[in-house]
Amino acid sequence: MLITVIGSGYVGLVSSLCVAEIGHQVIAVDSDREKIAALTRGEIPIYESLVPELLQRHNGKRLRFSSFPRSAVTASDVVFLAVGTPQSGSGEADLSQIEAVAKEIAPMLHRSTLVVEKSTVPVCTCEAMRELLVRRGAHPGWFSVASNPEFLREASAVTDFLYPDRIVEGADDDFSRFMLREIYRPLSSGAYYRREDAVPCPSRTRGRVRLLMTSAKSAELIKHASNAFLATKISYVNTVARVAEAVGANIDEVCAGMGSDPRIGSEFLRAGIGYGGSCFPKDVAAFEAVARRCGVDFQMLRQVAQVNEEQRMRFVDKLQRALGPLAGKRIGVLGLAFKEDTDDVRESPSIAVVRELVRHGALVCAHDPAAMARAREILPSQQITYAHDAYQAACGSAAVLILTGWKQFAKLDLQKLHSVMKAPVIFDGRNLFAPEEMAAAGFLYHSVGRPSPAVTRPATTLSGIPIAAGHSVAQIAAAAGQASLAAPTRPHLLLQPRTQNAQSPGAPQRATDR
Ligand code: UDX
Repeated sequence: MLITVIGSGYVGLVSSLCVAEIGHQVIAVDSDREKIAALTRGEIPIYESLVPELLQRHNGKRLRFSSFPRSAVTASDVVFLAVGTPQSGSGEADLSQIEAVAKEIAPMLHRSTLVVEKSTVPVCTCEAMRELLVRRGAHPGWFSVASNPEFLREASAVTDFLYPDRIVEGADDDFSRFMLREIYRPLSSGAYYRREDAVPCPSRTRGRVRLLMTSAKSAELIKHASNAFLATKISYVNTVARVAEAVGANIDEVCAGMGSDPRIGSEFLRAGIGYGGSCFPKDVAAFEAVARRCGVDFQMLRQVAQVNEEQRMRFVDKLQRALGPLAGKRIGVLGLAFKEDTDDVRESPSIAVVRELVRHGALVCAHDPAAMARAREILPSQQITYAHDAYQAACGSAAVLILTGWKQFAKLDLQKLHSVMKAPVIFDGRNLFAPEEMAAAGFLYHSVGRPSPAVTRPATTLSGIPIAAGHSVAQIAAAAGQASLAAPTRPHLLLQPRTQNAQSPGAPQRATDR
């Protein structure tokens, strides 16, 4: 099968490589000529595991690159659309790139061609696309439009494509269903997995690939609803973390307990400074806008986004409560990418925190194993310096902030880190360390939704002030002349004595309510 993939961004490039990998001929088309020239030379514009290997394997063989859609589209059986659908000012998805491509390819559809929507789009976009293609000169009998959303996570996009939990094939006619089945047959039949040169499976627990045949509208909804649900899970757990913090419980223990219920599941229950990236923030807003257009007030999604925004600001507030005014204070920042194992800083919570630090006059020294170049492009140049490693970022700092969950940070030499910092204060926005381990290493350690234990290492100093084992964060901070770090007054959650009318006779007592 010959497949043209229009758009060589994250989704487009990974899809092009993986579709070639499972045996199809692919032409990857992008209007950015420099990008196409670079890809043709084997240069890769994204930081993604296995992309270099697959490009080397298929470039110039099963995969070609082009800036000219005409010859590619007219020769192809299938055209994947993988162009951007960024967030517009109103929160809705901006579909201008999709529209522009549809208008461009409409006159090129001269033989039975399946147009597959891979970009994340609002429900009913396939329907609108069919109408647009016909209005722009495509004969209705020569093409079909289907939805085949991607669920690729950055950092594991290639294996997510090749070893998917499910493949959603949203088709409204037999031709679309047949073609989609053929595209993915190497995966659904298991033929790809029997190949000796197949990319190895990332987990031993992989079951059979589940093919979900749905209508195009259902497929479009599956994508938006899935991403919005995952974002909801994160904001939910971050809200529970606030409660845990207020009462002195531990969110890790709470999540372990919640996650062992298979109806809840243990994934996406990591508390922290919130979600970011190119998908969740925009998809939550776009899905809320879709619902609104349909007359549904999805206010829960507005709250999901709001909790996510607040989560970063609460983190900076906590820091300020600990250190007092940040102006002129040196703060070490570990992590700028929106998550570990990527150089992507789009909608990164870390970037939002750094901006807030800068706004308060802090002097930031940041390190990220992969994202510093991209961060430099979007962050102000004043008040921020970049360090070649975590220790340099921490050197002389009043506090170190861990903002991205890179594994390297979890393996830092704590003694060395302690020795270079001006004050051993760590604010961990990704809960990478066990609080007791950090206390034993002599750090004043704050994380998200977990108690901050008293320092247990005997010999340590804070701004020259000796800290004894057992000192609490509040005592040490007070000694150092910093603003109080005292834990917030814990609410007393004792049951109020029941008044006569509080409960109707015969109603179950609160303690046994389920
Ligand atoms: C996401 C979806 O997972 C993927 O299916 C979709 O197609 C594209 O969007 P991605 O944006 O690459 O993928 O990242 P993901 O791993 O899902 O993480 C998103 C954000 O949530 C990150 O900022 C991450 O740090 C945060 N996160 C994730 C949490 O804060 N807690 C968690 O428990 C999980």
